[in-house]
Amino acid sequence: MTQETLTLTVARRRVEGNGVLLLDLVDRAGRPLPPFEAGAHVDLHLAPGLVRQYSLCGDPADRNRYRLGILRDPASRGGSVTAHEGLQEGTEVAVSLPRNLFPLASDAAHSILIGGGIGITPMIAMAHALTASGGSFELHYCGRSRDACAFLDELAEAAFRDRAALHLDDGPASQRLDLPALLGSTPAGTHLYVCGPSGFMEWLIGEATRLGLPADHIHREYFQAEAATGGSGFEVVARRSGKTVRVAEDETIVQALSRIGIKVQMSCEQGVCGTCLCTVLEGTPDHRDVFLTDEEKADNDQILLCCSRARTDTLVLDI
Ligand code: FES
Repeated sequence: MTQETLTLTVARRRVEGNGVLLLDLVDRAGRPLPPFEAGAHVDLHLAPGLVRQYSLCGDPADRNRYRLGILRDPASRGGSVTAHEGLQEGTEVAVSLPRNLFPLASDAAHSILIGGGIGITPMIAMAHALTASGGSFELHYCGRSRDACAFLDELAEAAFRDRAALHLDDGPASQRLDLPALLGSTPAGTHLYVCGPSGFMEWLIGEATRLGLPADHIHREYFQAEAATGGSGFEVVARRSGKTVRVAEDETIVQALSRIGIKVQMSCEQGVCGTCLCTVLEGTPDHRDVFLTDEEKADNDQILLCCSRARTDTLVLDI
């Protein structure tokens, strides 16, 4: 797993809607940036120990900039506020290589892209990519009100503007998102992509499933790992340190290790960034992260300590 980072410069910043910071990050020397696929995100290293993931929302064909949209969330653990206050034009910031956990299916007959609030960001990149490839798609942007929405000017000018619809909570009922009507009028082989608040995604996925869309045709942006606690407790042997600890039901491996004086370096604390990756010497992890690929998880020789647990009574770790 590469942890390579780029040092990029904020070339442009503006705030739109209800506190959405739009950033264009470029290489200061004007070199083209590593390519990314629609649906990809990057890790922004905002401060020591403060790494956050944001979807790339620009056109994947544009190698000159990475565009991000960051919603200011005062209730967050500090990432968005630090980005809003610290990332001024000219600021340099360390950025990971793009990583895609939310790719477009290559065989979709039609794609329905639905973004709720800041969840519109990966959908814009997907709309660009599908436009370029000639794919059939429609884009739906759900927001509380027009004032709360970002990207409206960009969407009004986009090549795919005729395939984009806005659905506002405070607008007339006639413009609300009508998933049964949408799915009822699309061909077999339609894929649905959703991103937004978790309640919004759960509702959409539940409705789409009820309406008969196969599970493997439903895709969700999934930044946050599953709950890191729960299930039964288990034992962790920290072989290099020569210590053993019991991980209780209501604590993470990181918390249990810290009780016996073993500090694990972390950043996202939610199974996304890979900072807390550790080698498994014995036992079977219960993977709860979104960092490792399915193949890497199946190998069971690595674990993300901030969120994953154990399927066996004991895990022996190289720590
Ligand atoms: S700290 Fe980011 S994956 Fe564990």
